[in-house]
Amino acid sequence: MKKVRENGIDGFWGLVIFIGLAVACFIIWLATGLATSWLIATLLYVAMASCFLYTTLIGKQKIWDQQLPQITLSTDTRALDIGCGHGMVLFKIAHRLPAGGHITGIDIWRQQDQTNNSMATVMQKIHTDGLDQVAAVQTADMRELPFADNHFNVVVSSLAIHNVKPKAGRQQSLREIARVLQPGGQLVIADLGFSCNAYRQELVRLGFHDIQVTGTGINGWWGGPWMPTLVLRAIR
Ligand SMILES: C[S@@+](CC[C@H](N)C(=O)[O-])C[C@H]1O[C@@H](n2cnc3c(N)ncnc32)[C@H](O)[C@@H]1O
Repeated sequence: MKKVRENGIDGFWGLVIFIGLAVACFIIWLATGLATSWLIATLLYVAMASCFLYTTLIGKQKIWDQQLPQITLSTDTRALDIGCGHGMVLFKIAHRLPAGGHITGIDIWRQQDQTNNSMATVMQKIHTDGLDQVAAVQTADMRELPFADNHFNVVVSSLAIHNVKPKAGRQQSLREIARVLQPGGQLVIADLGFSCNAYRQELVRLGFHDIQVTGTGINGWWGGPWMPTLVLRAIR
């Protein structure tokens, strides 16, 4: 429960749907005199809900633990975490930054995208972890970033951009990332598979290079392998 409180649950309603379907199949299984097919359906939805819960609470952290050593951090680092939510990536980077480096997190704190996310909680944790000189957080929409051109040299985003709808909003967000990221700056996005493939095309148009998209395996499955997380790395 502590993990749920500290990190929230991503896409909460997706999880509710899996649990609801498991319960419905279980009731039908009882009502139909224990027909095997309904038991199999129940177990399938329980497995999907468990897989979803694993990814949101543990798998996603492992994905970023694997990515972080590949991000160059220095005393000059000016990093931005887009859609930081509870700050999972923000804190991982802040704790690794050499003195002088800085990371800013932005979010609009939508509960439907991640439960219990709030600026106050992240600010409190920044303070508790002794990171006041290293990390900051503010309310901002990724479609209209309140930063000057070329302000950052690292931009990261974890499972946030796909939440912007419609597609034009996601393209606008990528244009904003391109605007605030210095030439030569590093971009790392973890997001749902179908989204990452669309981002790649848009980033090519925006002049990014060395674009790599990689799978994350079972750590990134949102209910099953048909809804994977991919990681996109690119240089501005
Ligand atoms: C699934 S959560 C992921 C949070 C965090 N990056 C993580 O991995 O734990 C997605 C986050 O994106 C934020 N978000 C959604 N639309 C946004 C927008 N237009 N601008 C900024 N943040 C947004 C939500 O409020 C939510 O906190």
